[in-house]
Amino acid sequence: MNGKFPQHFLWGGAVAANQVEGAYQADGKGLSTSDLQPQGIFGAITPRMAGDSGIKDVAIDFYHRYPEDIALFAEMGFKCLRTSIAWTRIFPQGDEETPNEAGLAFYDRLFDEMAKYGIQPLITLSHYEMPYGLVKHYGGWGDRRTIDFFERYARTVFERYKHKVKHWLTFNEINMSLHAPFTGVGLPQESDKSAVYQAIHHQLVASARAVKACHEIVPEGKIGNMLLGGILYPLSCKPEDLLETQRQNRDWLFFGDVQARGYYPAYMQRFFRENGIQVAITEEDRQTLRETIDFISFSYYMSGCVTADPEQFETARGNILDMVPNPHLASSEWGWQIDPIGLRYLLNVLYDRYQKPLFIVENGLGAKDRVEADGSINDDYRINYLNDHLVQVAEAIDDGVEVMGYTSWGPIDLVSASKAEMSKRYGFIHVDRDDAGNGSLERRRKKSFYWYRDVIHSNGASLKDRR
Ligand code: BG6
Repeated sequence: MNGKFPQHFLWGGAVAANQVEGAYQADGKGLSTSDLQPQGIFGAITPRMAGDSGIKDVAIDFYHRYPEDIALFAEMGFKCLRTSIAWTRIFPQGDEETPNEAGLAFYDRLFDEMAKYGIQPLITLSHYEMPYGLVKHYGGWGDRRTIDFFERYARTVFERYKHKVKHWLTFNEINMSLHAPFTGVGLPQESDKSAVYQAIHHQLVASARAVKACHEIVPEGKIGNMLLGGILYPLSCKPEDLLETQRQNRDWLFFGDVQARGYYPAYMQRFFRENGIQVAITEEDRQTLRETIDFISFSYYMSGCVTADPEQFETARGNILDMVPNPHLASSEWGWQIDPIGLRYLLNVLYDRYQKPLFIVENGLGAKDRVEADGSINDDYRINYLNDHLVQVAEAIDDGVEVMGYTSWGPIDLVSASKAEMSKRYGFIHVDRDDAGNGSLERRRKKSFYWYRDVIHSNGASLKDRR
């Protein structure tokens, strides 16, 4: 793989505030939607009572242990670390006029620590959480006023960190609101489609406002969107399967189309009409949407298949998506189908469609690890997964796709989003904590730690083409 990755390729890892920080009430932080789902995105929405606890309340205690963790990332040679700002540390209820200084100060410390090692932050404004206060008092993204609250938050953090953070993302996996409305847009899970698309519309307008604000405030700043790149293949070459696949891929590409092109794609008119979906879009909204992102970012874990034949439809559950299994692919322990070539394909699809730089901001294997008697963790399965995906990234770069960087998901073990598990581990660094919250939180390098260090140091030359 010699010479395929550009010289300034941003190698690194990605985490999210609610999956690593813990300290869920420290220094004035308010409750977020994530705090109300202690069992994860698939879990119940529960009011927090005094004295109850969830695994995310401490998570991996990154809030206090970040200097040690950043030093470990630096040892691997990270050029970039993706994390999110917890909106509730800055505006605890969401509708305050002035921000919480203690929350702002935490991220100053974090970014300063990263700067010591030359690690560039890539910051998501909202990663699967929003202030619960906005859900309770305004109905989340269902209410237009949430756009203004988000813009206030975005402008506040752009002003504060404009000299420290040059790469930003708006909403994590923005297309997931279709499948997880509470997590995505703060609506009840059983909301009807009109309500969900209206809330999504507000979020798309808010995203465009953040893009505008970033361009105004952050010198040399770049801001992207973030899609769950759930690329789908037709299960057969039947024309009906192909058309249905195109339709289902448009479910998620719609978000990228609005954010990258600046207007609603024509195919949505028919989709809204045939599904009885009403969305109020003002002329001012249409103007706002014209402010488009600088780059496309996405997560990629698996691909899936589509059939138009209901009899053939059987469900292979991903974390939030239902996909038909591909008979040619193996699966992870969590049933996610492993498809490195799909990443090359997806990179090409997105580049052909948008002609904007791409950033792979999540990719990785969730697996159970075994700590050997001598303390080592030999995670060859993870090395193979990541190696094979990176080989395909190199191929896509050779195809002519502009790829800014790659941040693998969960470079340090963290709490999983879908079911709040610690045992589903993604890290190069092991964290001593189990699903019940027992453990010393001690950090330990896995075999993959040294492997990734070599990949970064060699700028990809150490990758092995195992095909
Ligand atoms: C993405 C999310 O959906 O997938 C992350 O952006 C999440 O927050 C990741 O952790 C992996 O999913 P899970 O459920 O295994 O944590």
